[in-house]
Amino acid sequence: MASSARIAVGCDHAGFELKEAVKSFLEDDPFDIEDCGTHGKASVDYTEFGARVAQKVASGDYEKGILICGTGLGMSMIANRFPGVRAALCNDLFSAIMSRRHNDANILIMGGRVVGTDLAREILRAWLETSFEGGRHKERIVNIDARAKTALEK
Ligand code: RB5
Repeated sequence: MASSARIAVGCDHAGFELKEAVKSFLEDDPFDIEDCGTHGKASVDYTEFGARVAQKVASGDYEKGILICGTGLGMSMIANRFPGVRAALCNDLFSAIMSRRHNDANILIMGGRVVGTDLAREILRAWLETSFEGGRHKERIVNIDARAKTALEK
């Protein structure tokens, strides 16, 4: 990944502690990290923070995003509504690797109430270091937005 890679991170209250840990894991990396909140444990609506990060990735301003809520489910639902976003809920290492190899996932989502800090660190590292395989998978990811657009037009 280029040293200038920009990563937007976001969470709700249930993902706050893990989001802070994720930022600390990335301290020594050359990424340009933007923390889109939330910034504390007070209850918030995950759709607000999921949308903030998804919008930055959808617009192309940020190459990648990381989102964390309690389960990761709500963040997945909101993030994947944004065109061009391929948000992958990865609460295990295999999913993290495959979401990059086959799906070229551009947002990593984890559940702060599902994964422990050590596993989250491994998931994050694997996700950032695994490349998209391209080939037959390229057309499939292009079809995600193409088919979704068709569905909306009907
Ligand atoms: C918050 O209680 C919880 O609903 C949220 O973090 C997330 O898990 C939703 O999908």
